[in-house]
Amino acid sequence: MFKRIFAAAIVTAMASPALADDCAIEIEVGDALAYNTTAISTKASCGTVTVTLKHTGAMAANMMGHNFVLTKPGDFDAVTGAAITAGPDKNYVPDSDKVLASTKLIGGGESTSVEVNVEKLGAGEYTFFCSFPGHWAIMKGTFTVS
Ligand code: CO
Repeated sequence: MFKRIFAAAIVTAMASPALADDCAIEIEVGDALAYNTTAISTKASCGTVTVTLKHTGAMAANMMGHNFVLTKPGDFDAVTGAAITAGPDKNYVPDSDKVLASTKLIGGGESTSVEVNVEKLGAGEYTFFCSFPGHWAIMKGTFTVS
């Protein structure tokens, strides 16, 4: 009896790392213009967090590609405005110090991750989004470091 409860607790913890630990963030996307969350919270005390993006859809990256890009809210327009020029070879991510973190562009069945030094970023609100042309208009959310 006791053993069974213990095993169930381990399975639950493995299935929901974001709930158990703000230092590991998992985001899912599919064949639609939406992340499964629009509000991510983490703590500067984590030091470095790993953001993992998982594409659960079936469409290819050139059709329904998604990535994770992080900027200050005030830099969102500049970075998204330069995304098309950067092009698919650069994952639609411009070379700019305004880009605080970014992953590659992925398609269905793929996953990718990036490490973000949130201790260095400091407490505050940041914006995360998909920089695939047009997606950022609705694929975005708030990344809060406390
Ligand atoms: Co996208």
